[in-house]
Amino acid sequence: MQLKNDLLLRVIKGEEVERTPVWLMRQAGRILPEYRAVRDSVSGFIELAKTPELAAEVTIQPVDILGVDAAIIFSDILVIPEAMGLPYEMVEKRGPWFPNTVRSESDIKKIHIPDVKDSLSYVLEAIKITKKGLNGRVPLIGFAGAPWTIFAYMVEGSGSKTFSKARAMLYQEPVLAHSLLEMITIATVKYLKAQVEAGANLVQLFDSWAGILPPDHYREFSLKYIDTICNAITEVPVTVFAKGAFFARREMGELNCDVVGLDWNMDISESRELVGNRKVFQGNLDPAALYGSEDSIKAATSRMMASFGGARHIANLGHGLYPDLDPGKVKLFIDLVKSYPR
Ligand code: CP3
Repeated sequence: MQLKNDLLLRVIKGEEVERTPVWLMRQAGRILPEYRAVRDSVSGFIELAKTPELAAEVTIQPVDILGVDAAIIFSDILVIPEAMGLPYEMVEKRGPWFPNTVRSESDIKKIHIPDVKDSLSYVLEAIKITKKGLNGRVPLIGFAGAPWTIFAYMVEGSGSKTFSKARAMLYQEPVLAHSLLEMITIATVKYLKAQVEAGANLVQLFDSWAGILPPDHYREFSLKYIDTICNAITEVPVTVFAKGAFFARREMGELNCDVVGLDWNMDISESRELVGNRKVFQGNLDPAALYGSEDSIKAATSRMMASFGGARHIANLGHGLYPDLDPGKVKLFIDLVKSYPR
């Protein structure tokens, strides 16, 4: 189907566009009271994610309410560990928790590469329903966690400031670490391809914990697998967002991906020099800037837009929205990007 608003896809193709497209990481589910209402009708996040009609509804909410130029399917990166045999719980105010973890050879034997069309059918169904509901209004973004970030949760068993158990494994059991990363990579390629088949117009890899690895480990235990995934996904554009991986920007330029996400610590013109001209950039306003006054949001947005210089840019934040941001201020940012003069 021809999309009515295909700004985002045209920017990725390198076309001249009338204005910069904008969407926000974590736009579905974090700030909208309309989301809370749907979520409160079920037992919690996981049930919501596993109910395709409701997942589709909250995916479309930011398109209707905030006016973003893309939808991102409502799900979580942690559905992959679950499909591999490691279920998780979402503990209110604390985040994800895994009753079982992978720390040894025998733990690896207990997990498997999933048949994604079976174990993740709820996500694929949500994508299909969302596509119908969007009716071609904007593109739909599919996503997955990058293998290193998924590995970090599977080994650690929860969120962590240091992920020291996951990082210890890279030093103590590198062979074991690589075999887990390989399994995650195979599962992720299958999962992303299934999302595309179900209707995702582009996909994004979230490497949320990229920034805690030293550069040599990042190359060996993360980039290598991201590279494999980028080479495997040939059907749609791929975005790589590696939070904190300022040290790997040159390598990002060499990946077989279309879009590179920048976090707010990354200087925009320095990033252009390091990454080169072949990639579209996505980002990178500090999410905390949206706590500021309207005037300061206007100034920060203009500064960001001017630094990107209008070309080859998808406007976004430098990481996901924070849950306590005021939806009105979030909408202000979106409107400012949309009306930014060319
Ligand atoms: O972008 C979107 O709006 C689509 C949905 C989406 C969710 N999680 C829904 C969610 C996406 C793209 C994610 C990605 C995700 N999940 C990442 C990568 C992006 C990032 O922020 O770095 C990570 C690291 C996770 C893991 C995760 N899921 C954590 C740490 C938590 C708890 C804290 C939090 O973020 O709220 C979650 C829960 C989660 N995932 C919620 C939502 C809407 C909150 C659940 C609730 O409603 O209580």
